[in-house]
Amino acid sequence: MAKYLSKYLKVSKKVSGVEYAIRDIVLIARQVEKQGKKITYLNIGDPVQYGFQPPQNVKDAMIKAIQSNQNYYAQSEGLPELREAIAKKEKSKGLSVYTDDILVTNGVSEALDMVMSSIIEDGDEVLLPGPYYPPYASYVRLHGGKPVEFAVDLKNSTPDIDDIKSKITKKTVAICLISPNNPTGVVFSEKSLKQLVDIANQHDLYVVCDEIYDQIVYDEKFTGIGKVAGDSPVILLNGFSKVHLMSGWRIGYIAFNNSQKLAPLRENLPKLARVRISTNLPVQHAALESLCGPQGYVSEFVSELKKRRDFVVKQLNSIPGLSCSNPKGAFYAFPKIENNRYGTDQEFVLELLKKTGVLTVHGSGFGTQYGGGHFRIVFLPDVNTLGFALDEIEKFISNANW
Ligand SMILES: Cc1ncc(COP(=O)(O)O)c(C=O)c1O
Repeated sequence: MAKYLSKYLKVSKKVSGVEYAIRDIVLIARQVEKQGKKITYLNIGDPVQYGFQPPQNVKDAMIKAIQSNQNYYAQSEGLPELREAIAKKEKSKGLSVYTDDILVTNGVSEALDMVMSSIIEDGDEVLLPGPYYPPYASYVRLHGGKPVEFAVDLKNSTPDIDDIKSKITKKTVAICLISPNNPTGVVFSEKSLKQLVDIANQHDLYVVCDEIYDQIVYDEKFTGIGKVAGDSPVILLNGFSKVHLMSGWRIGYIAFNNSQKLAPLRENLPKLARVRISTNLPVQHAALESLCGPQGYVSEFVSELKKRRDFVVKQLNSIPGLSCSNPKGAFYAFPKIENNRYGTDQEFVLELLKKTGVLTVHGSGFGTQYGGGHFRIVFLPDVNTLGFALDEIEKFISNANW
């Protein structure tokens, strides 16, 4: 009997398709670190790990909630006052949304999992901006779907509408937008958003729009999907990890636009919120304070980031062999590697790590079709650290002996 037992128990095909380059590469960095190399981490988009902190009133709100015994399971949909404050914020951006259409989640990450599991059947296709934030493809695959990348012009910040049209098939169920985008910093204009909503309407598709960086923009005023959505079936994802500097506290939300077509989703998706019980209650009190309390910290954070963005993009473009378009939002630069003598972008990033200790993320981790041949740098560290890392990158590229 025993001889027929297998060596390993099997895992699902679905889970083996899950990838997250941003964190997967840290495993290799740890090995390099063990060999005695100091690592300069430019891989994780977490402002709190680079010295930014939620303001004191927000920290106090969390502590006060704990001290006043708010330590029980919250309502599955979220704290009513918080849902109301979120609805107010999203309405001010133009979305037609009611408080009842807000679901508080454990970050945009959980929101994404819930949305994809609610709209995808095996074999369904989901359009993603090329390049995209990796969990989009991972969650699509995990729920049996197929991610399909569409082209985006990084210089002009425009989606390629013809490319999108050519990639819509009978199996397409949704178009995902990430604006401002991770990893490229592209921010879609009102005109582009309108074109995308129109295409989605023509083909009866969901629009899933991630606006987690909505207040981190540098050059032009931000336009949210709500401004152009009308009563189209739009699912907005947003959270507190970036603008509100609460990454480690894990909180985000889903907002359903006021569309008749979303009625079945509005009824079914909250079951997933109920089955996972609730999100962290003290954190919800902190999130409420971060929306309703003084907002000065956001503009201070963004003006500091703008200096870092300008510095990094200028430096990158001065390195022969690299070219970088100007990120209009978020906190990532996504340079293109011209004439890569290391082979793939992944080999480039690994060699850079081993030789210099500078940890970046290979572009193909954000989708091979459009991310390949690039790498991503987080410009959250202070200018001295960024300057050091960029000098190392320059030496690495120019030193033919490496
Ligand atoms: C576009 C985008 N969406 C979502 C997330 C993760 O959000 P959360 O921390 O709310 O799970 C990130 C984090 O880098 C991101 O870049």
